[in-house]
Amino acid sequence: AAIEKGGYDHFMLKEIFEQPQTIFDSLRGRLDAEHQHITLSGVDKIKEKLIHANRVIIVACGTSWHAGLLAEYVIEELCRINVEVEYASEFRYRNPIITDKDVIIAVSQSGETADTLVAIENAKKQGATIFGLVNVVGSSIARMSDAGAYTHAGPEIGVASTKAFTAQLALLYLIALKVAYEKQTIDQTLFNKLLGDLAKVPQYVQDILEEQDAAIQEIARKYADANDFLYLGRGFNFPIALEGALKLKEVSYIHAEGYPAAEMKHGPIALVDENLPVVFVATKDSYHEKIVSNIQEIKARKGQVIAVVSQGDNVVAGLADDVMVVPQIHEIIAPILSVVPLQLLSYYIGINRGLDVDKPRNLAKSVTVE
Ligand code: G6P
Repeated sequence: AAIEKGGYDHFMLKEIFEQPQTIFDSLRGRLDAEHQHITLSGVDKIKEKLIHANRVIIVACGTSWHAGLLAEYVIEELCRINVEVEYASEFRYRNPIITDKDVIIAVSQSGETADTLVAIENAKKQGATIFGLVNVVGSSIARMSDAGAYTHAGPEIGVASTKAFTAQLALLYLIALKVAYEKQTIDQTLFNKLLGDLAKVPQYVQDILEEQDAAIQEIARKYADANDFLYLGRGFNFPIALEGALKLKEVSYIHAEGYPAAEMKHGPIALVDENLPVVFVATKDSYHEKIVSNIQEIKARKGQVIAVVSQGDNVVAGLADDVMVVPQIHEIIAPILSVVPLQLLSYYIGINRGLDVDKPRNLAKSVTVE
């Protein structure tokens, strides 16, 4: 088992540290930043359906649902297609309105999640086109799909998903960019910029792992006894706040809630006192000053602020009690970096609490029953 873990104490830590490679593998042979080209045969196969889609409906569960939520923001922004993100378990029991102009993207690490599988079966019967975004080759969801692309993250053993999530994001960026290019809803300058930034992600993730690991271990020690956490983010970083909170719940058993930062004033702010750590996903973006004022609102109520910040952001660093620093990159791509320190934070808090982070109680790697 020690050999399988490649020298790491746990699969979760190994898989977090594999991400520079797995993200690279997810982009390999697909992203050609130099010649500004994206190759995705699965997208080519249903290209007309995607370009003329009435809606894209993303169906998933758990961490994969969070990848889908970010994809909603990205596809709407770049491709100007209506996107809905659905919990598979809800979608399958509703009576959703589906036509042959809808494209369903099923996001699943295992490709075996029962709710996701049945949801796409139903949608397919109603004429929708199914695109599978799956990690496990030959899995049920992959076979049920009309077209698809594999994430190529390799086997994920830790029950709490890490490297599969960032591989999903990498692939969803490629899909959105390719469709935007084909639909001509993106200008060449932005297209080139995003391709270039995407190509830098593996190295930037490596930098985060090398430069932030020790600091994050310290932060984890400091907050390991907290009873509750709040995770806040806006825009492209909102899904990352949800994923950060989920990761913490899964491996540390600490209650954590993810929320849109501006929505906190409608409820969660009532929880804030000196005992509540609040994690802000606050990298530089076009509404950065908004999240800065959200941080000030928490500080004014004596909450403890831990912030994911862009390199060189002295404003947030000056306000926060603790920071985790990530390289500056285009705001659309930033979430794939922001999540990495949050994975480490959850891992180290779980370890501090003496828990079995690879096999948290009550959870299963793949949920093949209802
Ligand atoms: C389980 C796992 C999660 C995963 C979810 C969806 O709950 O513990 O890590 O995100 O299922 O699984 P899928 O294989 O469909 O991505």
